[in-house]
Amino acid sequence: MWTFSDTDVVATALAGAPSVFDSQPWDLRLADRRIELYERSAPAATARADVLISCGAAVTNLEVAVRALGRTVVTTVAGDHDEDAPLAVVATGPSTHPSNTDLRRYSAISRRSSHRDPFADIRVPDALVADIALAAHDDDVEVRVLTRDDAEPVAARLVDSARTASVVGRRELFPWRSHWLPGGDAEIVDRDSALITQAVPDTVRLSEAIADDTVLVFAAPDDTRALVHLGRAVERAWLTAVDARLCASVLTYPLRVGETSHALGEDLHTDAPPAAHHAGRLPGRRHPRTKREDPVRQSNRRSVRVTRQQRVLTDRELLHELEEVAEGEVNRHLSMAKEWHPHDYVPWDDGRNFAMLGGEDWDPSQSALSDTAKAAMITNLLTEDNLPSYHREIAEHFSRDGAWGTWVGRWTAEENKHSVVMRDYLVVTRGVDPVALERARMDHMTTGFDPGEQGMLDTVSYVTFQELATRVSHRNTGKACGDPIADRMLARVAADENLHMMFYRNITAAALDVAPDQAIASIHKVLTNFQMPGAGMANFRRNAVLIAKGGIYDLPQHLADVVQPVLRKWDIFGRTDFGPEGEKYRDELAVFLDDLTSQSARFEESRARALAREAARSAAS
Ligand SMILES: Cc1cc2nc3c(=O)[nH]c(=O)nc-3n(C[C@H](O)[C@H](O)[C@H](O)COP(=O)(O)O)c2cc1C
Repeated sequence: MWTFSDTDVVATALAGAPSVFDSQPWDLRLADRRIELYERSAPAATARADVLISCGAAVTNLEVAVRALGRTVVTTVAGDHDEDAPLAVVATGPSTHPSNTDLRRYSAISRRSSHRDPFADIRVPDALVADIALAAHDDDVEVRVLTRDDAEPVAARLVDSARTASVVGRRELFPWRSHWLPGGDAEIVDRDSALITQAVPDTVRLSEAIADDTVLVFAAPDDTRALVHLGRAVERAWLTAVDARLCASVLTYPLRVGETSHALGEDLHTDAPPAAHHAGRLPGRRHPRTKREDPVRQSNRRSVRVTRQQRVLTDRELLHELEEVAEGEVNRHLSMAKEWHPHDYVPWDDGRNFAMLGGEDWDPSQSALSDTAKAAMITNLLTEDNLPSYHREIAEHFSRDGAWGTWVGRWTAEENKHSVVMRDYLVVTRGVDPVALERARMDHMTTGFDPGEQGMLDTVSYVTFQELATRVSHRNTGKACGDPIADRMLARVAADENLHMMFYRNITAAALDVAPDQAIASIHKVLTNFQMPGAGMANFRRNAVLIAKGGIYDLPQHLADVVQPVLRKWDIFGRTDFGPEGEKYRDELAVFLDDLTSQSARFEESRARALAREAARSAAS
């Protein structure tokens, strides 16, 4: 018999299931030791496949609820059945203790929802993607994780689908596509008049976005039983993603347009897929990290074992141990740093008043910068603007006294010059819209930069890579501006960044000697989660694509000019002082670098293809 609280658990889990157009196309009957789920008609024009997939998702929630109540479950899904018979029966078996997975999935039900806004630009780790795909496993369903190579054909099919869709259909498509367009709806919807301003997405951008994303395509034969199984699999994947603090949505509408689903099936060598699932991180929120992503926390948890091998030093102990090195580094820096003045680098003669003082306001025709140079300048400047956030971060991890305090003050003062000179240059030369720039600065600084939970070693190793990345980016931006004055200014800024990088790199090198396992754990954590600090800024993703396409900062440069030289300098792969923990992180790092190398090669190929297509298009027009 079902107690009232059992019924409550079951009903709540069912109400939390996703369904096509939120139609909840099912009825439920609680019988003795079983739950029967009946198919109910959905709004007109709803594809039956969507009704069956929705019912499948509901079945998963029922199964999860019953397991959380401490009962075993046997589910039977009907094939073609008459109207009065249940579509699925979830029978309860003997009592058992719910497993960890059961409880986690159960708790994910109330947190699951369809996420229709863009995701944060943070890659979902491969191991987590594998967990999600594994959770979805079903003998009747093929679950395919899209690879980078799949991205282009899939994007082409979806763009075709958008072209073929009716006007109403296109309207249906845009919330879905907004996942894959930088800036979300704002890119395609004119908010004032609610008109669709860009009905068909750009294939190249869509393909790049799909390549960076976590997309699972679900395929199964087109019959009742298989489609219910497919819905169950989709919901298991979704709950697993939510449990790992991801957000997600399921997409079917675009696959219903014309022959899209069949064509996709042919491209992917699967049955025609009726659904895709798309997961990522929620932007602008700190996610508690999963165990797998956070090696430092893992090693802390195992501190008993680590202590026997290498003592884990606290941040305070590390600062003390490294103080002498820091002092030497500050002195070296001061002896090498050259004094320079921002005003010397700005072509003031090019300046004139704006309208408020009787002159003329900015107009796009006044800018001599290419789209790529604009994107790079804005991204680099806003990144420099966020200095107060970085100061806070560094100051929190270093002490105010002695060499550490001197460094924090000096470094902050030097960094501040960079935004001064770049903003003066852009405003005087009218390179970008000063109003948009100021608004972006306000937004970006108001949001601030939050790198998540960090220790002192995470901070110094992160800043080593980040300073070097900034240096590369400034140098290439200078060239992309096509103006010798900008080139000289950014070369000056880049030289500062290089000196800063050396400070952090040498501190990390000393930390590797003092606490090798702890330091390699941080380096591993930083590199496998690496992201530039501008990720939260407006249009970051679109600008990042332009920057990568324009060769200003891209994956091959990240690997060859930033990651590898620093790792070589630290002699990561030649050291003999790692303990078992350190060895493990080094091995994982080697695998990660191999993966980055193949991703880089694929990036080069797809960029070459995209540029060739663009060239052909402009030659034809
Ligand atoms: C079979 C199925 C198809 C769906 N198709 C789409 C879709 O094409 N686009 C979309 O944005 N949401 C789609 N959804 C999500 C539903 O609209 C969503 O689950 C429902 O509105 C309830 O909202 P919730 O998921 O936030 O609880 C689909 C859901 C199911 C189960």
